[in-house]
Amino acid sequence: NLINSNGSDGSDLVEKLKSSNHKAVVIYGSQTGTAEDYASKFAKEFQSKFKISTLLVDIEDYELNNLNEIPRDVLIFFFMATYGEGEFTDSAAEFGEYLESELSETFDDDDGDESEKLLSNLNYSVFGLGNSTYEFYNEVGNKVNKILSKNGAKLVAPYGQGDDGQGSMDEDYLAWKENCFESLKNSLSLVEHDSTYQPSVSIIPTSGDFDISKVFLGEPDKFYLNENEDSDSLSLGPFDHTHPYLAPVSFSKQLFSKDSNRHCVHAEFDLSKSNLRYSTGDHLALWPSNPDQEVLNFYKAFDLSKEKLEKPFDIKPLDSTTIISFPTPTTMEALVRYHLEITGSVSRQFLKSISIFAPNEESRSKANLLSSNKEEFSNEITSNKLNISDTLLKISNNVAWTKVPFEFLIESIQHIQPRYYSISSSSLSEKKIAHITAVVEEETTAVKNVVGVATNLLLNVEVNQNKLKNEDSLVKPLVTYDLNGPRNKFQDFKLPIHIRRSTFKLPVKPGTPIILVGPGTGVAPMRGFVRERVQQFKNGVKVGKILLFYGCRNSNEDFLYKEEWAEYKNVLGDLFEMVTAFSREDANKKVYVQNRMEEYSSKINEYISEAGYIYVCGDASRMARDVQNTFIKIIIKERKFNEVIATEMIRNFKTNNKYQEDVW
Ligand code: FAD
Ligand code: 2AM
Repeated sequence: NLINSNGSDGSDLVEKLKSSNHKAVVIYGSQTGTAEDYASKFAKEFQSKFKISTLLVDIEDYELNNLNEIPRDVLIFFFMATYGEGEFTDSAAEFGEYLESELSETFDDDDGDESEKLLSNLNYSVFGLGNSTYEFYNEVGNKVNKILSKNGAKLVAPYGQGDDGQGSMDEDYLAWKENCFESLKNSLSLVEHDSTYQPSVSIIPTSGDFDISKVFLGEPDKFYLNENEDSDSLSLGPFDHTHPYLAPVSFSKQLFSKDSNRHCVHAEFDLSKSNLRYSTGDHLALWPSNPDQEVLNFYKAFDLSKEKLEKPFDIKPLDSTTIISFPTPTTMEALVRYHLEITGSVSRQFLKSISIFAPNEESRSKANLLSSNKEEFSNEITSNKLNISDTLLKISNNVAWTKVPFEFLIESIQHIQPRYYSISSSSLSEKKIAHITAVVEEETTAVKNVVGVATNLLLNVEVNQNKLKNEDSLVKPLVTYDLNGPRNKFQDFKLPIHIRRSTFKLPVKPGTPIILVGPGTGVAPMRGFVRERVQQFKNGVKVGKILLFYGCRNSNEDFLYKEEWAEYKNVLGDLFEMVTAFSREDANKKVYVQNRMEEYSSKINEYISEAGYIYVCGDASRMARDVQNTFIKIIIKERKFNEVIATEMIRNFKTNNKYQEDVW
């Protein structure tokens, strides 16, 4: 009973189009849900504005290797996210291979007759979603646009790019969308209609004496695991981004000192009762739920009574612009707590569309005014970090928005996405336990507590676990979670997770020297690497030397795993050297990892000369770039190369996987 796509039978898009009346397809390749969210909004608005039947497609649900056979009168819109270092998302990996192999072969044919090219029938546009703090900004959007166009496909509306790095994704999307609609009206003579809200899903209350055990109340593994599986048998999965494993948190502790006003949680997930495995350097994906306070605020904003919240219902898609990705029947309560991303920021577009359901005229005009004024919206909503409920209650002066159909909320609010953590253990020393190191996102502003949902959930588990052991709790978290709720397995402190394979990997030869740069939680996978080499050493393997640069604010406050590093040194001796940078110990001077790297210039060059590998993990917005520039500076200094050659050398290292990054 798990509906995870819109009638897709996992097959051929061309066949689907031939047997339906869709004249537009919105295809998304999404990793963290953002591309999916924009694609879904676009599909609905496009359909309602131009009265063109539109199909929303998750790129992994269909074969797309026959784009040349797509009927000429169908418009295709791609919403393509770039992940990590210019990579296709997991869901779009196959499509990426098809583009880069089969479709790239016809590349040189620039002068050929356009009408004879493979994709001359295809009418498309692309909106790429990227982050300009990464080197390969919007690489995937660029590639899709370039390769389709080289193969003769016609760009019917301008190629657009959204930038998460500058925090302008929403404004970039809105600007592109307006531009796109204008172009389509001009070039294809599309006629614009007044768009009114048409639900694309229908809620059907379940009747009479319904068997409640068949209702999805938020249990992540409901309807999925083999019914015969009891708690002692091995759970086989497969566990992936659509199906998490409910893993026991076998141990957790806080890593920052008692005096720190920030928190960092070390949590260990026991995989031994599942067939889930990881390899050192992989990511653990944690599926969070919403905190009590935010859930209650949401109920208040829409006046959702207990009776409404607990009544089971089914959901049927009414058209093809919505993909329902949770099990049904379910309840509003389960969806608000476990499925809808209710704590995130609000977009102007969302406010505009919900304004038609405002509780009174005054609120409607306030909502309209705000949604059409970029600056005011930014000042009143975005900069105060208000979420949906905060925003609506502020606009209406605390009057509930009772006219908003729940269908609208299901369609318009993004689904909660898993949060990724770089695994901080080694699969060699901890085969069936995965450690993570998560810094808790919490901030108290003039108007509210702004919290990160996954990290505060981890903090809650840590605090409650310690309470049970009668150990001192270090903190009172800003928010609480329903740890004894319908996901009652939570009582044993289980959390839904899956493992994401990563390309951040130690050199194949254990003897290769490595330079690790990991300030803050960027040290997480580095701890995994060091533990791996310590275990190899204990097993009699000849391991290469490690030079680790670690940075934090203060040696007595947020020094992660402070006591452990000496133990590793005891085992590895001269093979392990750790260099620290404390940024807030000297009020007059910030010391960052890259400053310490410069002091170690000659040693770093020596490692590189010995065919060493470089690893950088942590902040993508500034640190990764600063560190890369420092490596370039060191090469220039030590080898007397000019800047162009030194830069090229580091680029080559990256291409050959000798310079790897795990940054976010
Ligand atoms: P979220 O709920 O996602 O919130 C994110 C931020 O937005 C918070 O600062 C929050 O305060 C703020 N916010 C919340 N509501 C609003 C609002 N309405 N308006 C504006 N702002 C708001 N993190 C680690 O700690 N350790 C790791 O090892 C690690 N590894 C990672 C590896 C990868 C590949 C990636 C992609 C990320 C990694 N991260 C890591 C980051 C991690 O995935 C999460 O993004 C982070 O922990 C925050 O998650 P959260 O659910 O607690 O916060
Ligand atoms: P700061 O917060 O005092 O500026 C982990 O977050 C450590 O990384 C902190 O000591 C932090 O210092 C430091 N840091 C901040 N920006 C950095 C940058 N651009 N490069 C390297 N380290 C940085």
